[in-house]
Amino acid sequence: MAYSSPSQEPHEPHQAPLVPGLFTTAAPIKDSLVTDTSLSQNAVETSCRAFLAGTQDGIRVNRHGIPSLGRERHIRFLDKSLGNLPPAFKAADASRPWIFYWCLNGLVLLGADVSKYRDGLVATARSIQNESGGFGGGFGQQSHLATTYAMVLSLAIVGGEAAYQVIDRRAMWKWLCTLKEPTGAFRLTLGGEIDLPLDLPYDSSSHTPERLDLFTGLADYVRRCQTFEGGISARPGAEAHGAYAFCALGCLAILDAPHRIFPRYLDMPRLISWLSSRQYAPEGGLSGRTNKLVDGCYSHWVGGCWPLIEAAIHGPTISTSIETPSSAAGDLYSREGLIRYILCCGQDQTKRGGMRDKPYQPSDAYHTCYVLSGLSSAQHVTRILSSDGDGIMPPWTYEVLSHLDEAQVYNEEDRVSPTDPVYGIPEGKRKDIMSYFSSRPGF
Ligand code: FPP
Ligand code: ZN
Repeated sequence: MAYSSPSQEPHEPHQAPLVPGLFTTAAPIKDSLVTDTSLSQNAVETSCRAFLAGTQDGIRVNRHGIPSLGRERHIRFLDKSLGNLPPAFKAADASRPWIFYWCLNGLVLLGADVSKYRDGLVATARSIQNESGGFGGGFGQQSHLATTYAMVLSLAIVGGEAAYQVIDRRAMWKWLCTLKEPTGAFRLTLGGEIDLPLDLPYDSSSHTPERLDLFTGLADYVRRCQTFEGGISARPGAEAHGAYAFCALGCLAILDAPHRIFPRYLDMPRLISWLSSRQYAPEGGLSGRTNKLVDGCYSHWVGGCWPLIEAAIHGPTISTSIETPSSAAGDLYSREGLIRYILCCGQDQTKRGGMRDKPYQPSDAYHTCYVLSGLSSAQHVTRILSSDGDGIMPPWTYEVLSHLDEAQVYNEEDRVSPTDPVYGIPEGKRKDIMSYFSSRPGF
């Protein structure tokens, strides 16, 4: 790459790092009403400003006041989290597929090879797979949509036939049919079994004489989840939250290409306004909902909405391009702010490693995965590519390119891997698993 970042220049320890005042001075407008919420907000701002200033003892920073990514420490942290966990993790026994997904996805984002985990993952996946085709959270546990989702993503990440063969599509389809609600939504879990493979079965509560499928009513359900604020909630009438914004956009983007389906079902200006309000100064990080604190995991749940929205606004392109924006012009959020929050406030700087919610919180696998995922979206640009659909593969795909910016504030060696904008797995893994299954039509 003929591109060189000014941030590669070493920072002379005697020079003050170049940190814009936006990230070091208190927010100019303060609510004069003192509440528990305003006190927590002030405390978080104060602790973040100390980390953002780039003057913390023992933390080396570049000339922009930003520490490098502790890649090796974070890899060690995730490798350890995939091993035997101490007794305090007993409660996480119902979330084993999630731990696999967070660790494996984090490792691949950091550029680590996860093939050594394939055999172990396949054996564990088979042991917690139910006859229904779904996966429970652990041995002998009932199938659950969220743990099934996490297990399928984990198998896709390690990749290869042995991993894909674990997935019993026929049984899983039937199980998914039992979860479909008449509202268009899905329940997360259910006891009953049914026996029709493709259409909704007669004993589904959604069955009507008209032809329905798993997607019927889904986009309309998402539409009804958009709130007066413009964000998206878990169910109609509930509070908008960043995690559901990402799930909703992902869901729509599976049903059709973002540039067509987003404006058809969502009030885009209002959604963009709400998403923009999730980024705070001076912290630079993102919150999940109105009047709540920044948290590293929203780097993905909220930050991950931007690639899809920016791609939808840009519209489809037909050929692969190596051109990427050369400045912040056209960005709908401050990539720099988010990257500063992630690298300055989101890293555990001790030898423990891992990423965290905010300063002084312990690192964990969940935050390590989603903070790195958010870092990846801030460091890349996503575009929709028109492609030849074959009836199984959709007629559009995504291209994820490095975002190159002359004003780049992080070192080039701190760029993490590109990620699939919809499935949150390394780019390319979605294509592999879809190619495998599309060559086996009819289950
Ligand atoms: C609030 O937590 C969190 C929620 C209301 C939603 C959490 C949902 C997800 C993480 C989405 C799950 C997605 C999949 C794909 C399974 P809080 O009150 O502790 O946090 P806050 O103060 O930041 O709102
Ligand atoms: Zn969090």
